[in-house]
Amino acid sequence: MLNLLLFLLAAYTPSVIEGVYFTNSGFYQAKVDESSPPGTYVKTVQALDQSGNPSDQITYSLTKENGWYKINSTSGVITVAKTLDREEMADTQSFDALATKIGESQAGTATIYCTVLDLNDNYPQFENLPYQVNISENTKVGEVVIEVSASDKDSSDNHNNEVYYKIVGGNTEGTFEIATRNKKGIIALSKPLDFKVSQKYYLNVTATDESGAPTGNQNWTVVTIGVIDADDLAATFSKFLYPVLINVNTRRGREIVRVHAEDQDSLQAPVSYAIFRASDPEEYFKINNITGSISVNRNLTRDSYPFIVTAKSSNHPAAFALVVVNAGAMPNRTFEASVMENEANTTVFDLKPLEQYFNVSDPIFQIHQSDEGDKFFINGTSKELKVGAQALDREERDKYTVVVELLSNGDN
Ligand SMILES: *[C@@H]1O[C@H](CO)[C@@H](O)[C@H](O)[C@H]1NC(C)=O
Ligand SMILES: *[C@@H]1O[C@H](CO)[C@@H](O)[C@H](O)[C@H]1NC(C)=O
Ligand SMILES: *[C@@H]1O[C@H](CO)[C@@H](O)[C@H](O)[C@H]1NC(C)=O
Ligand SMILES: *[C@@H]1O[C@H](CO)[C@@H](O)[C@H](O)[C@H]1NC(C)=O
Ligand SMILES: *[C@@H]1O[C@H](CO)[C@@H](O)[C@H](O)[C@H]1NC(C)=O
Ligand SMILES: *[C@@H]1O[C@H](CO)[C@@H](O)[C@H](O)[C@H]1NC(C)=O
Ligand SMILES: *[C@@H]1O[C@H](CO)[C@@H](O)[C@H](O)[C@H]1NC(C)=O
Ligand SMILES: *[C@@H]1O[C@H](CO)[C@@H](O)[C@H](O)[C@H]1NC(C)=O
Ligand SMILES: *[C@@H]1O[C@H](CO)[C@@H](O)[C@H](O)[C@H]1NC(C)=O
Ligand SMILES: *[C@@H]1O[C@H](CO)[C@@H](O)[C@H](O)[C@H]1NC(C)=O
Repeated sequence: MLNLLLFLLAAYTPSVIEGVYFTNSGFYQAKVDESSPPGTYVKTVQALDQSGNPSDQITYSLTKENGWYKINSTSGVITVAKTLDREEMADTQSFDALATKIGESQAGTATIYCTVLDLNDNYPQFENLPYQVNISENTKVGEVVIEVSASDKDSSDNHNNEVYYKIVGGNTEGTFEIATRNKKGIIALSKPLDFKVSQKYYLNVTATDESGAPTGNQNWTVVTIGVIDADDLAATFSKFLYPVLINVNTRRGREIVRVHAEDQDSLQAPVSYAIFRASDPEEYFKINNITGSISVNRNLTRDSYPFIVTAKSSNHPAAFALVVVNAGAMPNRTFEASVMENEANTTVFDLKPLEQYFNVSDPIFQIHQSDEGDKFFINGTSKELKVGAQALDREERDKYTVVVELLSNGDN
């Protein structure tokens, strides 16, 4: 474009010069640094009158200069009128100078082409803020996590607008790396993540123009990377061995124990329980796959039942625990109790805790055998052993043995 103009202007050489005209075929070129303050010299233009001489009667003025330049009306010296900012104007501006002389009907015109040389006066500006991302703990090393980009309004002269990215903070153990590619900062994983060690990274990322030269302008931003726990751990039982002692007559459907396993990830994936069938082929027991409650599934015939329970979460291998059920007669228990003499209808002993001990619900208690059978009775509603209507007399007798029988379900 510039070459073409040169050519056109060169071709335009007026044969008859009339009025006022500029030297240089009315074409001037100038270069000035960006950020030059008002008054900075740009160029001197000169016009001649019809006689071919300079004249102090010639008056200069500018048009189309958009306020950036001004001209001394007598000397033709063009200076900066307002501090130049390349990013606010074009790289090269053209404007016209006008030369007039009193008495001359024809004014002269010239075009000034002024190139503003870029100074690295702009800072990289991060775009598309904020930078936040959540990534899975399973993210592979080398995988791109997030991209950042910063623009710079300077020209590409001296790489003034070429931004180089760097991680300068928050990169614990060098977990991430950044590469400058296609004007972007590409952040990738450089070491495996572990949710248990770190759940959040705050990377301080700088963008420096002049391709990262020490003289370049630098800006920074924080990139927040959250780590999401992956389901990488299996469930485990809270106990490895569950010993259970039950009455041999424990009814079908009765819960005898509850096993518990938990997924080890914070995800807390649901756990599904099962009895390892080969360890209980006759299916004496069954388990609630959600609650882990184990119950009797059929009449028991043996004394001991060891079997294996499994707990599975997601796709992980199952966890195991051993349950050993011993079925038999619960050992008899002996208690001692004291009562006041001379008190009829008084409570000797609360039998309710025995239900739990013998693992039976709602049994019938009855006095099996007593030294003085009619002196005691059992209230079946309150489940208490009581002194009968006749009060005891210590002087007559100070000790009694009462054998109480527990009948559950008709069986004892
Ligand atoms: C214009 O230039 C002349 C000659 O150099 C000078 O005397 C005069 O002060 C200048 N005018 C302005 C407004 O600067
Ligand atoms: C740095 O970048 C941010 C985001 O683009 C911007 O708001 C800020 O002005 C920049 N800092 C400088 C010194 O230019
Ligand atoms: C990342 O996850 C957290 C909660 O774990 C959530 O508050 C945040 O909005 C998520 N951020 C993005 C960018 O998805
Ligand atoms: C990020 O790094 C820059 C350059 O070192 C520093 O000036 C800035 O304070 C840092 N920002 C944070 C949040 O640490
Ligand atoms: C029987 O024992 C199991 C576990 O040992 C217990 O969960 C259950 O509640 C007991 N049943 C009664 C009636 O006490
Ligand atoms: C748990 O058992 C129920 C019925 O017994 C069945 O419908 C369900 O699919 C089982 N769930 C799992 C996770 O095995
Ligand atoms: C299980 O035991 C109960 C009570 O002892 C009995 O009535 C029932 O017939 C038995 N069931 C089987 C299948 O043996
Ligand atoms: C408990 O006592 C009764 C009656 O004396 C007896 O038949 C039974 O065998 C005893 N049970 C045990 C486990 O000792
Ligand atoms: C048995 O106990 C219940 C509840 O405590 C009471 O209402 C009832 O009167 C008692 N019966 C006898 C015979 O003491
Ligand atoms: C004990 O209870 C019986 C039956 O409820 C009653 O007849 C008797 O009067 C009571 N005796 C005393 C001393 O309260």
